[in-house]
Amino acid sequence: MLATNTFRQFSSMANNSSKTLAKAIVYSEFGNPRDVLRTATYPVPKCSDSELSVRFLASPINPSDINQIQGVYPSRPPFTYEVSPSKPSAVAGNEGLLEITDVGEKLKKYFSPGQWAVMASTNLGTWRTRTNLTSDQLIPLDKTAFPSIAEAATLTVNPCTAYCLLQKIVPMNRGDWFIQDGANSMVGLAAIQLGKHFGYNSINIIRNRPDVDQLKEQLHSMGATVVLTDEEFMNRAWMKENVGKWTQGGKVKLGFDCVSGRVASEMAKYMTDGATMATYGAMSRQPLPVPVSLLIFKNIHFHGFWVTKWKSEHPQEYEKLVLEIQELIRTGVLRSANSKLIDLHETADGKTFYDTFLNAIEQHGKSIIQFRYD
Ligand SMILES: NC(=O)c1ccc[n+]([C@@H]2O[C@H](COP(=O)([O-])OP(=O)(O)OC[C@H]3O[C@@H](n4cnc5c(N)ncnc54)[C@H](OP(=O)(O)O)[C@@H]3O)[C@@H](O)[C@H]2O)c1
Repeated sequence: MLATNTFRQFSSMANNSSKTLAKAIVYSEFGNPRDVLRTATYPVPKCSDSELSVRFLASPINPSDINQIQGVYPSRPPFTYEVSPSKPSAVAGNEGLLEITDVGEKLKKYFSPGQWAVMASTNLGTWRTRTNLTSDQLIPLDKTAFPSIAEAATLTVNPCTAYCLLQKIVPMNRGDWFIQDGANSMVGLAAIQLGKHFGYNSINIIRNRPDVDQLKEQLHSMGATVVLTDEEFMNRAWMKENVGKWTQGGKVKLGFDCVSGRVASEMAKYMTDGATMATYGAMSRQPLPVPVSLLIFKNIHFHGFWVTKWKSEHPQEYEKLVLEIQELIRTGVLRSANSKLIDLHETADGKTFYDTFLNAIEQHGKSIIQFRYD
């Protein structure tokens, strides 16, 4: 466990006369979220000359945030005394939309109160109401680009991942095809919309459910070319009869897999010789069985992609991508869908604060906690 700050620093913050109290969801050890998460209330002093005071407007709960709390994610935040005097802790969450509330003297030329921003890197802790940041820790946005808070709050993980998968794995031409599982995931929905924008066709696999026709229709309306349930997709005879009719000789050059297991290896069978499968998640928690015939006779390439690593290795490209995605949102190419905004008031007591996060973590589907300051 890494303790970078000291209790003395916390105490001097608490003694600062112009402090604001903030709340955060924190943990001091890895484990089941219900066992290890707790609420911390901590003072945020007035920002220094070279800092910005910020308040979070909305913070999504991503699968990787939960994996991080469980201790099964390779990127781990430092445990410090920043928000908790009793034991070193990390603030949970990696993605979030924030609003600048106060600007240090040296930064007044560049920032103003009311501006929106997102995180420039991970492990800064976004499941909280307020903090002070340095300018290199955030990327400012133009809030007029966003039809709703959801698009801005979820910009840095899923659309960035989908964009990188579509544009940075293999060269694709208009009319080419990609195939993906978990197509109704946030990454999958962004890939459908961006794929349509780039002129690519897509085969999209979702899990069966009672209202599957409605979901299929939604994915088609966002730009999906073909949408199949995993049961339809695993019917090899039916697939062989139909896949050529859909693609009309077009090449399936790229596959995206966030599920792993049998569906993923089956996807590779419909890809063209020399195509690339990029695995970026393993929601089924199954290994990826790769038939050697796909390697020998079709030379299918199996790759992995991790946006966190890409961002840390390409910080300037990442910043440019955030601004490019902002423009794609402004022009209506990309919309957030199927995420649930959950209100949490700054004045909520510690138990309500904790319960709101825990319920959101444990319910199925994507949630965004929206902090309210009125
Ligand atoms: N490598 C990277 O850079 C990167 C970046 C972003 C996300 N990811 C990963 O990508 C995955 C999706 O992330 P997201 O935020 O887009 O997720 P999300 O919006 O929460 O969606 C989760 C998806 O996984 C499916 N799913 C859940 N449990 C499953 C199971 N047992 N078997 C098969 N499918 C299952 C869901 O299908 P149903 O609707 O049918 O439940 C849904 O399509 C996660 O593993 C995440 O960690 C990786």
